[in-house]
Amino acid sequence: MSEALAQISVERIEEFTEEDLHALCEATDAAIIDGGGFGWLNPPGRLALENYFRGVLLVPERELFAARLNGSIVGSAHLVRPPRNNEAQAFAAHLMHAFVAPYARGHGLARALTLAVEERARSLGYHVLNLDVRETQEAAIRLYERLGYVRWGEHPAYARVAGQTIRGFYYHKMLKIPGGRRGKAEDRNGERPA
Ligand SMILES: CC(C)(COP(=O)(O)OP(=O)(O)OC[C@H]1O[C@@H](n2cnc3c(N)ncnc32)[C@H](O)[C@@H]1OP(=O)(O)O)[C@@H](O)C(=O)NCCC(=O)NCCS
Repeated sequence: MSEALAQISVERIEEFTEEDLHALCEATDAAIIDGGGFGWLNPPGRLALENYFRGVLLVPERELFAARLNGSIVGSAHLVRPPRNNEAQAFAAHLMHAFVAPYARGHGLARALTLAVEERARSLGYHVLNLDVRETQEAAIRLYERLGYVRWGEHPAYARVAGQTIRGFYYHKMLKIPGGRRGKAEDRNGERPA
């Protein structure tokens, strides 16, 4: 298919069609085999993946966002809200497990996924979005730094991959809330919403 015809979109998924679940599992398998960033180092098998994604939709603190290329799901990301008991961090959410299948990269889908998760977090009133990446995920590091995520920390033993211990980098972004409301974190470090 020609590049000019590539249609990209991102949406929140609240239930799966069989076709969407199949495409998401295909995309996940491909990303894991490519060295992917999803926690898994080897594809866990189709049934385990299907159960995993069906489970994600049932977790109250999680929202699943899917990236589509020409109508098919080719990637996803999770918005993870803090548990209700964590009042001290009730202003901060996490962006986790973002990936785009190798066959769909370079179309701006990861950027669109990130912006969609940010928009949703903002609309829910969160002031901070946190995320972390392996040091080897160079494309992701570049993406998030270009989108204004600030690296605040480094974990020296973040993951074990192929017998090697690798570092992890921790990022945050202050989300500017429309209407100029200020969150506790913004009060502390002096950043103000637009
Ligand atoms: C990181 C990843 C999600 C990017 O997906 P993508 O859809 O190809 O990214 P986009 O097309 O939206 O590119 C957006 C930005 O990402 C960066 N980027 C993407 N691919 C890149 C590459 N191969 N090398 C360097 N930077 C890259 C660039 O900053 C790019 O913006 P630019 O083109 O204006 O420079 C994808 O490579 C991936 O799934 N990697 C493995 C999993 C992972 O690292 N997940 C993130 C952390 S859990």
